[in-house]
Amino acid sequence: MRTRTHLTPAVAAVTATLLVGLLTACGQEARGGSRYQPDAGKGSTVGIAMPTKSSERWITDGQNMAEQFEAAGYRTDLQYGDNKVENQVAQIENMITKGHRLLVVAPIDGSALTDVLRRAHESGAKVISYDRLVLGTEHVDAYASFDNERVGELQGGYLVEALGLDEESGESGETYSVELFAGSPDDNNTRYFWDGAMNVLEPHIEAGHLVVGSGQTRMSQATTLRWDGGTAQKRMDDLISRHYGSTTVDGVLSPYDGISIGVISALRSAGYGTEARPYPVVTGQDAELASIKSILAEGQTQTVFKDTRKLAEQAVLMGDALLNDEEPEFNNTTDYDNGEKVVPAYLLEPVSVDASNVDLLVEEGYYSAEQLS
Ligand code: GAL
Repeated sequence: MRTRTHLTPAVAAVTATLLVGLLTACGQEARGGSRYQPDAGKGSTVGIAMPTKSSERWITDGQNMAEQFEAAGYRTDLQYGDNKVENQVAQIENMITKGHRLLVVAPIDGSALTDVLRRAHESGAKVISYDRLVLGTEHVDAYASFDNERVGELQGGYLVEALGLDEESGESGETYSVELFAGSPDDNNTRYFWDGAMNVLEPHIEAGHLVVGSGQTRMSQATTLRWDGGTAQKRMDDLISRHYGSTTVDGVLSPYDGISIGVISALRSAGYGTEARPYPVVTGQDAELASIKSILAEGQTQTVFKDTRKLAEQAVLMGDALLNDEEPEFNNTTDYDNGEKVVPAYLLEPVSVDASNVDLLVEEGYYSAEQLS
């Protein structure tokens, strides 16, 4: 189990505000100074709709949010959609029926919630889009995420550096073979990760010293429905057997740890992972425990650490502001157009992790030293 924070300073501050408000509300007449609203604040329930338990990160996201919202005085209703759109829609419907005032949603399919969020809006509930942007609706009040394009840049940049492409700049005439994987086509983040990575990789592909052996260079050829590791494994099996008879795969752009693990399984079956034929450079995202262990065992090469405790904290701060009719703090009000509105966002910074700085995860308290040993 990942270690988790219980009461971060920011959440403690929210709790303190609520307590002060509560005392004011219970004491003499509040003279317009109290921000405490009995209906919106302590005691009201926050609906948290997460996509799946099949990936460790969402389990932690849900737990972190439940703990932090509860520490701030709210009740929580945490639901997982099992990666099925109809489940998630039904869960959100249910939350509306139960009268929840705030919904925090990480969509399974970004475009499938338009109707249900209209009903949420009619019921007066506020909506926070969590990590993944909800598309095609004006009824989303705020977006808490990471700088998603930067995630892709870190992945693409890692491949370039690890293969030594910048230094060689084609002078040695050496070429490297890579394969490219993208995330789920119905997740808005997929495009951002891909674009970020391709901004870095494309010049090298055009210069000819990075060769995509399969020729599959379009995002639509590289997507992985629902980010499924098994699906990625099958595609990698197929790419190896069709395109790598005599050549070696030198690098794989993988946007997510679950995909990386699938890709590495396919490589292992094809004879990679030995001294004579080491694994290629394989990127990832989420710093999931299985991938960190794989990095330490020289399987996967890199991942992108996104501290989900901080993301949960951001959602709590945003939610608390929205429930009190205040403007949440945003640091990006231009980039995340969902087709109906530019959703104001707070974006956190992702960090690239490989074997050289993996200790960071222990220093930050994200994992214990025992978990990594
Ligand atoms: C994305 C998310 C990634 C990864 C992926 C698969 O939306 O930003 O961090 O978790 O889903 O779950």
